[in-house]
Amino acid sequence: MSDAASADPAVYAGPRRILSGIQASGALHLGNYLGALKRFTALQETGAPVFVFVADMHAITVWQDPQKLADQTREIAAAYLASGLDPARSIIFPQSAVRAHADLAWVFNCVARLGWLDRMTQFKEKSGKHKERASVGLYTYPVLQAADILLYKATEVPVGEDQKQHLELTRDIAAKFNTDFGVPGFFPQPEPVIHGPATRVMSLRDGSAKMSKSDPSDQSRINLTDDADTIAAKIRKARTDAEPLPDSLDGLAERPEARNLVAIYAALANTSREAVVEQFAGQGFGAFKPALADLAVEALAPVTAEMRRLMNDPAEIDRVLADGAERAASVADPVVEEVKRIVGFWRA
Ligand code: TYM
Repeated sequence: MSDAASADPAVYAGPRRILSGIQASGALHLGNYLGALKRFTALQETGAPVFVFVADMHAITVWQDPQKLADQTREIAAAYLASGLDPARSIIFPQSAVRAHADLAWVFNCVARLGWLDRMTQFKEKSGKHKERASVGLYTYPVLQAADILLYKATEVPVGEDQKQHLELTRDIAAKFNTDFGVPGFFPQPEPVIHGPATRVMSLRDGSAKMSKSDPSDQSRINLTDDADTIAAKIRKARTDAEPLPDSLDGLAERPEARNLVAIYAALANTSREAVVEQFAGQGFGAFKPALADLAVEALAPVTAEMRRLMNDPAEIDRVLADGAERAASVADPVVEEVKRIVGFWRA
């Protein structure tokens, strides 16, 4: 990204570690599920340790009601558990419960360059026309994200496509830290893992806009808390065109809404978009939408039911989060101590 971030030539020699996070800023939707949650669970099965946290520090870069933030945090934790993360194997924790995130973020604030942050498209989108009224935290948001990742020396970061630029910045910060302080290979170059048919799920109302929790129209997204009838109704009403499905993916190039529904079907059915198009070639949405609705309800119903069960048992969620925070800190604290030594901070 920048001339200042000269590549770190040393090869990182540490273990494979998977890490990701979701903001505690409101309801989860199908994009979060397919782009992130479902893939965390798949990666857990590869046997490498998975660190997943609830990004509550990122959430407060825009206003969050203090009465609700802790419950929002529990809700994301419930989604992690309900989608299949096993707290015995994976480390599930609230970001703010591990102090080292803030410590490392400060050091990285002094490594990252203003010019790098000026190029971040998410800040431009989120701050809108009134940049001067945005919080400073919203601007340095990607620096905290780099700290989240590098604190655990994560090597793989499963995310949706919208996080790609933040991962590039993380790699630049890692390289610059290693170079500036003469510690080649200290931080790894984490790989963004952006795979599968649904790394960018689009709105059900507009195939050119991302499915997002901030979209004012609830019809634009399927929430993980929607019941079966609501899911089916939203899919039935999803915007499409009048053409039948083509027999190859090329035929979807100019049809964003149809392409999105095919991608969602493929991700839910654990198959490829090519296979879906082959299966439904020549059929109209009158046939495809009910099949998609059935599939979505079948895939999401167990997740939502388990989320609801867990939300009725906050003590169980709190146990998982407290235990996860302790285990996360035992990995993060020695890294931040080492960083303090490298930077030259006073130590007794
Ligand atoms: P957040 O909370 O906006 O989204 C959580 C995850 O869901 C993915 N996602 C999508 N995937 C496909 N289609 C969509 N429409 C869609 N919308 C969201 C996101 O890409 C993300 O993977 N900055 C992060 C949170 C974070 C983080 C981290 C992630 C903080 N620190 C360190 C990884 C590593 C965020 O705002 O995600």
